[in-house]
Amino acid sequence: MVYSDVVMEHFTNPRNIGELKDADGVGDVGNPVCGDVMRISIKVNDGKIEDIAFKTLGCAAAIATSSITTEMAKGRSLEEAMDITKEEVAERLGGLPPQKMHCSNLAAEGLHKAIEDYRTKIGEGGAGA
Ligand code: FES
Repeated sequence: MVYSDVVMEHFTNPRNIGELKDADGVGDVGNPVCGDVMRISIKVNDGKIEDIAFKTLGCAAAIATSSITTEMAKGRSLEEAMDITKEEVAERLGGLPPQKMHCSNLAAEGLHKAIEDYRTKIGEGGAGA
């Protein structure tokens, strides 16, 4: 299996790894295909993602997608961060091998869940609210 240089770079040097202790929103997701799991935590300030961290128990592609997703989301408004798709994440990584495309689901999903968690906590409700 051949990973792009960007995937390998994010896998060996992941950004924003860990967990924010005083997180405003947390998203836990699992990949039904392989059983891998990840958690994304966010700090929100003035409608923007001020800080973000991830913990992923998964393959190289899952770690790389988590890492680049946190980079993409940091500083974005919540609306813009909700627009990040798994396809966009895979594209930013220079593509993923077809059999690893399912690994890109986790990060975008975890991010969206963390935002939904934040919105629920502040009383904005979930999707569609
Ligand atoms: Fe599980 Fe990649 S094999 S996320």
